[in-house]
Amino acid sequence: SFPFSSVSFQPPFSSSLVTLAVQNAALSIVMHYSRVSTPPALAYSPASAVLLNELLKGSISFVIALSRVPEVAKYPWRRKSLWQIICALPYPWTPPFWYICGEIFSPDCWKLSIPAILYVIQNSLQFVAISNLPVASFQVSYQMKILTTAAFSVALLRKRLSTTKWISLFFLAIGVAIVQIQTSSSNAPQHKDTQVGSAHDSAPLHIHVMSPLKGFGAVTAACFTSGLAGVYFEMVLKNSKADLWVRNVQLSLFSLIPALLPILYTTTPSSRGFIADLFRNFGGWAWATVSIQVFGGLITAIVIKYSDNILKGFATSLSIILSFLASVALFDFRITPSFIIGATTVLGATWMYNQPAGKEPLVSIVLTEQ
Ligand code: C5P
Repeated sequence: SFPFSSVSFQPPFSSSLVTLAVQNAALSIVMHYSRVSTPPALAYSPASAVLLNELLKGSISFVIALSRVPEVAKYPWRRKSLWQIICALPYPWTPPFWYICGEIFSPDCWKLSIPAILYVIQNSLQFVAISNLPVASFQVSYQMKILTTAAFSVALLRKRLSTTKWISLFFLAIGVAIVQIQTSSSNAPQHKDTQVGSAHDSAPLHIHVMSPLKGFGAVTAACFTSGLAGVYFEMVLKNSKADLWVRNVQLSLFSLIPALLPILYTTTPSSRGFIADLFRNFGGWAWATVSIQVFGGLITAIVIKYSDNILKGFATSLSIILSFLASVALFDFRITPSFIIGATTVLGATWMYNQPAGKEPLVSIVLTEQ
């Protein structure tokens, strides 16, 4: 087994739930604002953001993995002087560093290549979706992840779903369809959304044209990659004894290839150099988007390890309410009766899906018995 220190990080259930819900809501709002608040000519490259996300997440996971090697974890850091700490750090030429590298490049590391590619595709599609949809519609449509996750869990993990869960998945799809129809047929929210700050400023900053059809296409594809990648990652993680943080480093390493390809393919080299081209137009909002994404990736990994997709699905549905309230305040999002009906159906279905066995609502028990 993996000889890591017994110092393990197992956050309480409720704090993971709240953290993930707030992170999800914050990400959709900040990412949306970072994309629509600048004219296309001054926009940052989503491909750079995806690459940076993987680099940062991988580096943080590497440091955490290193800090959990017994030699490092058991060292009495607090009782040492600054000079002694500097001398005792696990530098690249020390055994703990090489030990972790050996774990990362273990013979089964290739297993992470599949979720790595899928997550890079998902993270790129997320940018397309959020640039073309109002925040609230994006969040509701993204709930279809529960549907795809359930389908892949049945197909790959051979999980069996109760009748209640199948019924709630059906209602989830209906709810998402209602929100999609109303967003696609009404131009008002998209037009208002283009005027960033219109609730407070009299003149719009610029016109950012959104295409709901493109947005829904991207969000649907992202739901498929999310479901498959999540289930695959859970399968790899729970079927082996390797440490979560080592797995995360492997995931980020394999992500670097698909994340780099679109950058090398699309960027025309300028005299300013590769790094300067990579971070062109990378302002505060772009950095905020990447930071929230990195944080979310780490929390998601912890939730998949210590809990499962049930907690994850519940947290994201809570985030719908948060981003909905925020988009009314920030983006002048218009509440329509069909949006409320659709969103309520999605929330109700999510709640029903997450009922523990034996505590399902009466209606489903009656249906099951018939
Ligand atoms: O939407 P979903 O919950 O599938 O999103 C998962 C997100 O978490 C993705 O952006 C993915 O890159 C990230 N993730 C991660 N490390 C993991 C699992 C997921 O960074 N081990």
